[in-house]
Amino acid sequence: MSVLLAETASDHGLKRSLSALNLTTLGIGAVIGAGIFVLTGQAAAQYAGPAIVISFMISGLACLFAGLCYAEFASMIPISGSAYTYAYATMGEFVAWIIGWDLILEYLFAASTVAVGWSGYVVSFLKDFGIVIPAQFTAAFGSVLVDTPELGWKLVTPELTKSLAGSGIAIGNLPHLTGILNLPAMFIIGATTLLLLIGIKESAKFNNIMVIIKVFVILLFIGIGFMFVNKANWHPFIPENTGVWGHYGWSGIFRGAAVIFFAYIGFDAVSTAAQEAKNPKRDMPIGILGSLGISTILYIMVAIVLTGIVSYTFLNVSDPIAVGVNAMGKGLFWLRPIIKIAAIAGLSSVVLVMLLGQPRIFFSMSKDGLLPPIFSKVHSRFKTPYVSTLITGFVALVLAGILPINILGELVSIGTLLAFAIVCIGIIILRVKRPDLERTFKTPLVPLVPILGAGICIAQMVSLPWETWARLIVWMALGFVIYFAYGIRKSKIRNGL
Ligand code: ALA
Repeated sequence: MSVLLAETASDHGLKRSLSALNLTTLGIGAVIGAGIFVLTGQAAAQYAGPAIVISFMISGLACLFAGLCYAEFASMIPISGSAYTYAYATMGEFVAWIIGWDLILEYLFAASTVAVGWSGYVVSFLKDFGIVIPAQFTAAFGSVLVDTPELGWKLVTPELTKSLAGSGIAIGNLPHLTGILNLPAMFIIGATTLLLLIGIKESAKFNNIMVIIKVFVILLFIGIGFMFVNKANWHPFIPENTGVWGHYGWSGIFRGAAVIFFAYIGFDAVSTAAQEAKNPKRDMPIGILGSLGISTILYIMVAIVLTGIVSYTFLNVSDPIAVGVNAMGKGLFWLRPIIKIAAIAGLSSVVLVMLLGQPRIFFSMSKDGLLPPIFSKVHSRFKTPYVSTLITGFVALVLAGILPINILGELVSIGTLLAFAIVCIGIIILRVKRPDLERTFKTPLVPLVPILGAGICIAQMVSLPWETWARLIVWMALGFVIYFAYGIRKSKIRNGL
């Protein structure tokens, strides 16, 4: 702890330019994205029905508990390593390494996942203006696409096969293509990486504009949508369970909560900008809890309105909000392109903040000696961790180009849940070990809140498919190899540096 606290006071080369408002918009930038623009409809249609509103409340509550723990840590140890640093302070280097390695799944993989979602929206937006990007350059390497009669080229999934079969179309008879690269997804990663290299202030400015656009349009959707609600769509509010776990009823509400957890990921990214905040001890908790609170309220309102204007059964699509607008009638068709613009802006800012968070975690890990010193090099003019930003951008760009979105998305969720659980446990440990430390923000009701936070996160992890667990274990095993081959020998603390 004393080493870390000395580091907060030292000159680390990064520029302190972010205010409380900047930090809050940074959080909103990272949070509101693919989750609300894509997953809400699918989770309502397949698992929870209109009760997806309750799923949002449950998932939001779990994030609130974790957010309160993050806020205490961030006000106490304002270092850019986020959960990695908190674990270092409470559970030692090995657990810290595990978390640092695990956070790559959250930030770097989330940037790639959301870039793939961004690509989908951009392709569809350009198509509305007659600009067509060849389908094989908009999909993951080796993925199979079919030319569907109404929707054009679509990725082959079990759901698509089923829905086409439902309309009497055999998928085997449609023209097929094999994906080569997802070029638009690679483009957005490349462009945001460049912006991040130039400066934290410039990046924050761009993020602010994106956040204003997305929040304004979401409010517009909620405001106009309320007038088109048909209360019949909310009945039954909790559709009866079909006999299968997770398929409507209360089990469906919980399954829906685990799925839309993805929508909340990102408020913790605020903590990675701690060393660039003007007044971190006061402003970190504001940024973390403010962005989480605002996003939660918007999510719940969108879920209420969306399931009110259109029956949940029609929402199993990649653009549910657009389906909601369609249901409002021809008079509101002007809103459709605006929704797409908001989604594109929203997803851009998620990519930006995720790509901002990752290099800063690498920065802290490198400062501690667990990664090579090059990762903590700061650009003399731009004052950004430019080498780790470039490395992160390059890897995210390759992943976004070649990997399918579902594999990436579930890894992001399990990785984040693990980080949240460890942060919650860390709060209890530090309260016992170091009750004397100055805490500008204190998590209320300790140990109840951290225990509930960790408990709900672990329960959500358990509900994820075993394949996701297998990937997590493989990822962690790779991390162990790197730690024992490099980190343990070079660790500054171990070498008394
Ligand atoms: N919460 C972010 C999103 O929904 C990751 O896109």
